[in-house]
This record gives sequence, C-alpha cells and structure tokens, in this order.
Amino acid sequence: MDGGEDSQSERRAARVVAENSLKYTTDNIIRCPLPGCDSKGHITGKYDKHRTLSACPLYHNMSVDECKARLLDREIVSEKRKTTAPDDRRGLRNKAATSEQQEYHRKVMEERSKFKVEMSEELQEQHSQHRDLYQMTREPLLTGLTTEFDLKLFREAQIQACEELSYEMTAHYQLSDKQEYRICKMEMGRYEMETWYASPYPEEYSRLPKIYICEYCLKYMKTSVITRRHAAKCVWRHPPGDEIYRKGNLSVFEVDGKKNKIYCQNLCLLAKLFLDHKTLYYDVEPFLFYIMTEADNQGCHMVGYFSKEKQSFLNYNVSCILTMPAYMRKGYGKMLIDFSYLLTRMENKVGSPERPLSDLGLISYRSYWKDVLLNYLNCCKERDISIKDLSQETGINANDIVSTLQAMGMLKYWKGKHLILKKQDLIDEHLKRKSLKKLDENQVIDPSCLKWTPHVSVQ
Ligand code: ACO
Ligand code: ZN
Repeated sequence: MDGGEDSQSERRAARVVAENSLKYTTDNIIRCPLPGCDSKGHITGKYDKHRTLSACPLYHNMSVDECKARLLDREIVSEKRKTTAPDDRRGLRNKAATSEQQEYHRKVMEERSKFKVEMSEELQEQHSQHRDLYQMTREPLLTGLTTEFDLKLFREAQIQACEELSYEMTAHYQLSDKQEYRICKMEMGRYEMETWYASPYPEEYSRLPKIYICEYCLKYMKTSVITRRHAAKCVWRHPPGDEIYRKGNLSVFEVDGKKNKIYCQNLCLLAKLFLDHKTLYYDVEPFLFYIMTEADNQGCHMVGYFSKEKQSFLNYNVSCILTMPAYMRKGYGKMLIDFSYLLTRMENKVGSPERPLSDLGLISYRSYWKDVLLNYLNCCKERDISIKDLSQETGINANDIVSTLQAMGMLKYWKGKHLILKKQDLIDEHLKRKSLKKLDENQVIDPSCLKWTPHVSVQ
C-alpha cells in the first residue's frame, strides 16, 4: 500500500469514528437515563419510546402494557364524558350537582374517611424491599398509602404534567440546532434570562427548553407549577453559611463547599449556563463561595458570586466569578472583584484570578486594576513607587500590575530600571469619570463592614 492509500484509509476510518460518534449523540438524546431501562413505552401509554424519567414506566414501577391499559381506561372515560357532558357549559358552576355526581362524591368521601394508613406486614415488606433495591433511583411504591381514587387522581396529574413537558421538549428539540440542544432559558426569582452555554445538569434537565431555579436554595426544577409549589414550601430567604459583610441592603455570605455541598453544586451548575470554560461542578468541597445579595422585604436576592480555593497553590484569589445576568453592567462585578481583593489583603497575601479569563472577565479585571492603580497614584505623594509596595497595598499580583501599567503606557524602562511614569492626564480623566458615575455609597465595598477572619484549613 502506498502513502496515498494509507492516508485515504485513515481518513475513511476517521469518518467512521465521527459518524459513529454522531450516531451516539442521537441515540443519547432518545435514551432514558434510568439504569436498566431500554427506553420502551411511555407513561402516557401513547408512544413506543421515552427519553426522560418523568415519562419512564419503569421509574414509576409500571409495565409498558399497564400504561397502555390505563390509556384505554382514560379514553373510555373521556368518551363517556363527551356523550354525557352538556353542550352548553355556561353557568355550570352554579348548577346543582346531578344525582349521579352526588352519588360519586359520596363514594369518594366515604372511601377517604374510611382510609387509614395501616399496611399489612406483607405490604410493608414489599415497600422496604423496593427501597433497599432501588434506593432513590425509582419512585417509591405508592400502594396502600392513600385511597385508590386519590392514587388514580395523582397518576392522572402526573401523566398530564409529563405530556405537557414531552410536548415542550419535542418542540424544543425540533427547533434547536442539534449541536446546541441545551437549556436556552432560565427563570429565577422575578427574572427570566436567556442562557449562554450548556451546563451538565442531570440528563432529565439538561435538555429542557427552560429551567426553573429557586432563587434562595438554588434547587432546579422542570416546570413553573413545580416551582410555585416549591416556593410555597421553601423556607430559605438567604444563602446558607455566614453573613460576613453587610452595608445597607448589600450582604456577602461565605458558604463552605464542604458544609453546603448541594447548594454549591447547584450554584456551579447555574454559573456554567453563563461560563464557557469552567469545569468545576461537583467537586465543590475544596472551595469557599462568596455570594453577594441585595435584600428587600422578600429576602436576600443573589446578584452574583465568586468561588475561591481554600488553599491555592498558585495564589489564585478567585476561581470563578459571575454576576447574574439581570444585574450585569451595574458595577456588581467590580464590587465582587474588589471584595475578593479585600479578603486577600486580610490574609496578608497577594492574589490573582484563575486563568483563563473569559472575555468579559478580562474586561472587568482590566478595568478594576486600572481604577485601583489610578486611585493609588492619585493619592500617593511619594516620588519612588515600587511595584512590590503597590502589590502589597492593593493585594493585586505584581504581574497584573505590570501588565496594567504597560497597557496604560505608564511603565518605562530607564537606565536598567522599571519606572512608573505618572501620567496626570490619565489620572484626571479617571477622576472625572469617577465623579460622573456617582455610585451609590452601598456600591462601594467598605472594609469596615467586613466581619471575617481568614479561613484556616486543617491539613
Ligand atoms: N461589554 C463591554 N464592557 C463590559 C461588558 C460588556 N458586555 N460587561 C461589563 N463590561 C465592563 C463595564 O463597562 C465595566 O467597565 P468600566 O467600569 O470601565 O465601564 C467593567 O466591565 C465591569 O463592569 P461591572 O458592571 O462591574 O461587571 P458585571 O457586573 O457586568 O460583571 C462579569 C462582570 C462578572 C465578568 C460578568 O460579565 C459575568 O458574570 N460574565 C459571565 C461569566 C464570566 O465570564 N465570568 C468571568 C470568568 S473568568 C473567572 O471566573 C476568573
Ligand atoms: Zn427553595
């Protein structure tokens, strides 16, 4: 075989691999995530296949045939309703119940009043075996926990919710570019926002058109109904952990990834919707999370956060930083950055953000470093300014100071030494911009409002 044929066969092999991987993606989309499920059947009984847990018969401890039989039952009832229901539905609410309806109501009430959760030993054994065998991977057995009537009602509601979601997911799939089949919107508190990137939520969620997030506990949910029900029950009104800073209605909470693992994992998953390159989602224990909130009479609303390694080998003082999209471009990003350097100064260290920086990250950091240096140069009356002193006073790593000064044309190399060239015009321009911005006094981090001692890690 000569070289040409060799490369041709290599290309062919590469194409087969690529095609297979594409096939795998398509398979992946229609595969149910439940271990041991072959994706056959659908809880509604209407389809041959399903791809989510909420539509999975096995997850709900039902067989494919049982789901089909239930569909038949429902169809019979609905046909019957069609023939008996009056054509004119106006004023129905005010009409007295028919004798048939009264009889039905009486039967349901009687069944409910007689019902007691007294399970036979055999049933209890069945339930506990099921729990042991499947843990949280399947719906718990529901037999014996409520009346037949209520169980049926619950199943019908489940099926209806699933049907609505399946419809939405299919429409979303058909509309999306198949390479970009991901969550496109997120609703959190009073805001709905477009998301920017895919995030590794469990498969059940990662391909929804829209994800709903509780703004306090960060639990993620599939529908607005579930979210409303959660909101009625959720007792959280601020992030967990310690409130280490408060000025006016602005607070910062320190949350330990080890103590509040689920909260921090949920935070990382949410942040990934707006970050292209960060890969931290589940391994949150080595990190601390600083959540900035703004309070009103409802609770503390998250405006942004940054994460930080408890022990950083490379003296990174921020691992990941995010301003919630509804709050972007209002100065919170720079406040978060300023806060991260305040902590670094309290630790008697100098720090730098973890690389690589995103485009927006770089713009924000550059702008922050520039502000700090120009402020410093404006206040500093000494003739000799050393980069080392500058770095120690601000907590900003010397490399970041040098690159910022260089970008402003304020660093000169003269007679074998680096000199800082104080450009008064730049300082004046900076002061003018600052006075025009007129930041609210709460929008400036005030070191006296910090109640914090540096984290001491146990080796
Ligand atoms: N276009 C142009 N300039 C912008 C933009 C934008 N979209 N967004 C912010 N800026 C500028 C602002 O004008 C401001 O500069 P100025 O004071 O000189 O005018 C500066 O950046 C900071 O603005 P803030 O309002 O303080 O920042 P914001 O609250 O918007 O947050 C952040 C900045 C955190 C980077 C935000 O854009 C974000 O969350 N992005 C998505 C996640 C991300 O990329 N994070 C950084 C990753 S790198 C890392 O984690 C270490
Ligand atoms: Zn909640």
